[in-house]
Amino acid sequence: MIADDLIRRILKEYKLPRDGIHGVAHWARVLETGLRLAETTGANPEVVRLFAVFHDGKRMNEGWDPDHGRRGGDFAASLRGTGFDLAPKDFDLLYDACAYHTDGLIDGKVTIQTCWDADRLDLGRVGIAPELKYLGTEAARELQNITWADERSQSHWVPEWVWDLWR
Ligand SMILES: [Fe+2]
Repeated sequence: MIADDLIRRILKEYKLPRDGIHGVAHWARVLETGLRLAETTGANPEVVRLFAVFHDGKRMNEGWDPDHGRRGGDFAASLRGTGFDLAPKDFDLLYDACAYHTDGLIDGKVTIQTCWDADRLDLGRVGIAPELKYLGTEAARELQNITWADERSQSHWVPEWVWDLWR
């Protein structure tokens, strides 16, 4: 799980409404979808969890904000060692996953791709259907996983634990 102190520090810096389209419910669904995918992709689950809470954490608006991924990665770098720990090679994965998550790329590194797939499977919340050509892991392209994530996204589903810890 994400440590309470870490989420507090991330939320303190978050400039947008927590219940907005890039807010905590989105982070939580990305986290849970990412962990579900990681069971079969073999992605590093800690990187997936941290991506979920950092990738949109430095957005300055809900629309066009092309540098927010890099700011999210830099923010993660600033909290590394006090808010969380990752080995250098795993931190590099987290940084790149955050920095390039909106560039429409497909990445061969399974942990990075699992993060991006989890984010892209949560597009239903804004009325966009996930497209297979933007999903890079086989797990994300499985119909049952797409359906599971997309239904949660479209219904703006919020995991119960979010209300206790992230609000
Ligand atoms: Fe996102």
